[in-house]
Amino acid sequence: MPVGPIPSHRDLDVDNRRVFVRVDFNVPLGDGGVVRDDTRIVASLPTLRSLIDRGAKLVIASHLGRPKGGYEAKYAMEPVGGHLAQLLDREVRVPAEEVVGDAATKLAGELRPGQILLLQNLRFHPGETKNDPKLAAALAALCDAYVNDAFGASHRAHASVVGTPLLVRARGAGDLLTRELASLSRLVDAPERPSVVIVGGAKVSDKLAVLVSLVERLTAGDTLIIGGAMANTFLAAAGHGLAESLQERDRYSDCRMVLDKASARDVAVILPTDVRVGTGVEADAALVHALQDGPLPAGTMALDIGPTTERRCAAAIAGAKMALWNGPMGLFENPAFASGTLAVATALGNCRGFTVVGGGDSVAALHQANLADRISHVSTGGGASLEFLEGKVLPGVAALRGEVAP
Ligand code: 3PG
Repeated sequence: MPVGPIPSHRDLDVDNRRVFVRVDFNVPLGDGGVVRDDTRIVASLPTLRSLIDRGAKLVIASHLGRPKGGYEAKYAMEPVGGHLAQLLDREVRVPAEEVVGDAATKLAGELRPGQILLLQNLRFHPGETKNDPKLAAALAALCDAYVNDAFGASHRAHASVVGTPLLVRARGAGDLLTRELASLSRLVDAPERPSVVIVGGAKVSDKLAVLVSLVERLTAGDTLIIGGAMANTFLAAAGHGLAESLQERDRYSDCRMVLDKASARDVAVILPTDVRVGTGVEADAALVHALQDGPLPAGTMALDIGPTTERRCAAAIAGAKMALWNGPMGLFENPAFASGTLAVATALGNCRGFTVVGGGDSVAALHQANLADRISHVSTGGGASLEFLEGKVLPGVAALRGEVAP
């Protein structure tokens, strides 16, 4: 889906104005509220610094985790605020418990240029996920201008993502949102051949829509690589005996449909021809099993692609002008079954074409292998990037244009 121009925050006059910045600071927290991975926070710093330099008073807001619509201490924003304060070397104030109300209004009213308020977790308000017009209006009342830098949340039609911007006349995209849309649009609108798409993860059902739309955009000479537990379902649909392997028995016809579409378009498909198996997810040893040798041994499950499959994937990726990766090739959290995922990460790191990686697990694997800086674009949005690649209009992007997404 082509993306029309959206206004940039850089075109807004923000001097001495209160600017609401919707960010995606939904980051993993460890013991004692330590931010374990600050990639998403760091990714929004250029936008925040630019606004500060231009004299804005910042009202920043994000969701964190999936609280049930009320205050939960473990999802409170204070640790994130503390981390942001360190990164910006500025005080960041966080109102206690309530998202909107007297405390937020008072603190927002006291802001001077360059000062920062981080609202409490937006999902503490039950109206956020329901796109409640009252919450949208209360957030809009805190600001003079609205900036969306929350690519990772822009597929959610939530109050702070769509309701609020539609109520604020001065609005624009943050630099992170702009960069994400430009990179993903390049894959979709200006594909260079050969293109390689690598899709992994647990379930066909989670990724069927994006698989279909990606296959429909590939053409002769391109390659689709399928790995992870979702490959098991494809293999089982083709009649392979997979013993205890995770699979979705009700998805065989979907798998065949994807393969038929690929074949009709002359798209090469790489499915595992060998797998690494173990006795369970906790297994500490992997046994390589070639599928041509028959069914998997009883009591085992496929937990990673095998070495021959790794080499086939690496060869395809090496020749790619464009490559997109979403989803791990195996159970990479267990070192015995990390090889396939790391092999794909390494091949992408060495690829000279335009490379894009999205999805929390694939991005984590890239970081684990210290390869993130060798990828052209590492997306901060898993679900959002998949919906964009499916061709959907992201509600948060539509709202910046003053439109309501279909
Ligand atoms: C994400 O982590 O993908 C985004 O922050 C969206 O979070 P959600 O899936 O809870 O809406």
